[in-house]
This record gives sequence, C-alpha cells and structure tokens, in this order.
Amino acid sequence: MKKLESREDVELLVNSFYDKVVKDGEIGFFFNEVAKVDWDKHLPKMYAFWESVLFGQMSYKGNPMRAHFPINEIQAMEQKHFDRWLKLWTATVDEHFTGENADQAIYKAENIAKLMAFKMDLARRL
Ligand code: HEM
Repeated sequence: MKKLESREDVELLVNSFYDKVVKDGEIGFFFNEVAKVDWDKHLPKMYAFWESVLFGQMSYKGNPMRAHFPINEIQAMEQKHFDRWLKLWTATVDEHFTGENADQAIYKAENIAKLMAFKMDLARRL
C-alpha cells in the first residue's frame, strides 16, 4: 500500500472521505441539510487543512473550530457524531494509505475531534 506523502494523496483522501460522509445515515445530514455545504469551496479548504496538518505547509488559513459553532447551534454535534466521523475517516485512511503520515492523519483527527467535541458540548451549556 501507498504512503501518504503528496498533495495528490491528500486530495484523494479528502475526496474519498467526503464521498462517504455525504452518503452517511448518521452524519451526512450535517453537510447536506444543516450547513448545505458548497463543495467547490469546502474541498479546497480541506485539502489545505490536511496538507498543513500533515506536511506543515501553512496553506490553510482559517480557524477549524469556529466553522462548527453555528452548525452546533442548529443541530447539536454530539459525541456519537464525532465517533462516526472518526470511524469514516479512519476507514478511508486505512483503505488508501499506510505509514507514518497515515498514522498521523488518524491520530491528529482523533485529537482535534476530542477537542471539538468538548468545545461543542461546552458551547451548548453556556
Ligand atoms: C461530527 C463531526 C463533524 C461535522 C458534522 C463537521 C461538519 C462540518 C461542516 C458542515 C463544515 C462547514 C462547511 C461549509 O460550511 O462550507 C465544516 C468545516 C470544517 N471542518 Fe468539520 N465537521 C466535523 C468534524 C471535524 C473534524 C474532526 C475536523 C478536523 C479534524 C474538521 C475540520 C473542518 C475544517 C478544517 C473545516 C473548514 C473550516 C473553515 O471554514 O476554514 N471537522 N465541518
């Protein structure tokens, strides 16, 4: 299996992940119905995000947490949704890639998801 090492690899990973997400019975509605995502804008942001996280490219300029608060206000983003998100992400990484960056992609997503779940939960209590 292939190492996760180039921009093309990141694009393949992100595209395959969101192919799964939009069809998913548990979290697809966040993207399709709640946020009504403009994919032409969202996908390039996600390529840049993961390229920055994995390769230190600094091509992502944004705040990954902030985008989720308005969604969380319309529809609570709960632990079960993050668990599902991570399950799809891990399955997608494992389907295509192996090696240290593939492991990092899973490990970093787990940490960000943990922090995000905590922040979303806190925001709902305030
Ligand atoms: C249940 C879990 C999640 C849901 C439902 C979700 C949903 C979304 C939605 C709907 C958007 C906005 C798209 C748009 O309006 O164009 C978004 C943006 C984004 N998400 Fe998530 N997300 C989840 C978890 C995560 C996790 C775990 C990460 C990171 C590992 C992440 C990273 C991002 C980033 C980087 C953006 C772009 C923010 C920007 O505008 O700069 N998301 N997400």
